Amino acid sequence: MYRLEFGNITLEDFMQQYWQKKPLLIKQGFKQFQDPLSADELAGLAQDEDIESRLIQCHNGDWQLDTGPFSEFSGYGERDWTLLVQAVDHWHQPAAALLEPFRFMPNWRIDDLMVSFSTPGGGVGPHLDQYDVFIIQGEGKRHWRVGMPDASLQTLCPHPRLLQVTPFTACIDVIMQPGDILYIPPGCPHEGISVENSLNYSVGFRAPAQKDLLTGLADYLLDNDLNGNRFSDAGRLLNPDVGALQKGDLQQVKQLLQQLVSDEQLLPLWFGQYISRAKHELDQQEPDPHYGLDDLAEYLEDGSVLAKLGGLRCVYHQASASDDIALFINGEQITLPPEELHTARLLCEYARLDEDQCRHFTQLAPRLSLLLSLINQGYWYFEE
Ligand code: SIN
Ligand code: CO
Repeated sequence: MYRLEFGNITLEDFMQQYWQKKPLLIKQGFKQFQDPLSADELAGLAQDEDIESRLIQCHNGDWQLDTGPFSEFSGYGERDWTLLVQAVDHWHQPAAALLEPFRFMPNWRIDDLMVSFSTPGGGVGPHLDQYDVFIIQGEGKRHWRVGMPDASLQTLCPHPRLLQVTPFTACIDVIMQPGDILYIPPGCPHEGISVENSLNYSVGFRAPAQKDLLTGLADYLLDNDLNGNRFSDAGRLLNPDVGALQKGDLQQVKQLLQQLVSDEQLLPLWFGQYISRAKHELDQQEPDPHYGLDDLAEYLEDGSVLAKLGGLRCVYHQASASDDIALFINGEQITLPPEELHTARLLCEYARLDEDQCRHFTQLAPRLSLLLSLINQGYWYFEE
């Protein structure tokens, strides 16, 4: 279990003064930090075709980007390259534990854990990200510089798939040691250059753009065959200017669109499905054969513990205490009666259900059936 400590500020201070506002170096945010994986294990993940990985190198100002899967690294030499592996939390349970201390933010805001291994001189160049990130220093040391957002910075594209920025003024300039954490808000330029072989863990966040929200909503309407209201114009006054788009007509188009997004019932149902869907592939493995209700009840009564599949996104919505609960698991909606709030919270809040939490599911037949179906889909599994 990793415990995040902010040093001489509280979590409340962090949220008020730094979150989305300015970068912060959290010295020894994780005390006595132990890497959850080794560079070799990371290289192993980068060999898997289901896992997204990139290798970025720069020699004498010439940037190169290769995409995985990688079978060999020996050709890259001893320095000036970085291997980046996306969504490692989906594939490596101990690494997924690094996300847990950041769940002071809602589940839906947390994205994934990217892990990088850099040789001396290695880095991805100065750049901006659109999302908040906490960068945790693992083994080795890396020189990090971070600046404040600066409209005068220009975009550079030293390789068709690499976006960088022109040199920036740093407000944080530090050689990070294992356990140090850097918080970087969106739009702050940053650059990390490795001093020695080093591992970095990036906890990324999700912040959907209006474009993504609208496309997501449109997909939901299509999938669920929801046509909504249609334009209508009983009472139209004649106007000889037949080529013009009239103000009143545009007003109605706007109203039709606004009605959709202001629908208090539709909005949480769509957003819950949309935002709980994993962006990267999950390591979902159905048990074979499937468990039966009796086996499950017996295992749980006997004190088994259950782990949640890495990267599984779970959120719920309940409009008021007397309303049904919409539980969303990886883009699927499950409806629970109002009194099952504790069940929804257990499933959403914990990466691991201990013996007592597991026994909660044996107390009611529909609860047990729900858990059975989640286990048989590979979303929760018995921990050895
Ligand atoms: C890295 O770990 O090399 C890149 C992390 C970042 O700059 O976002
Ligand atoms: Co970055």
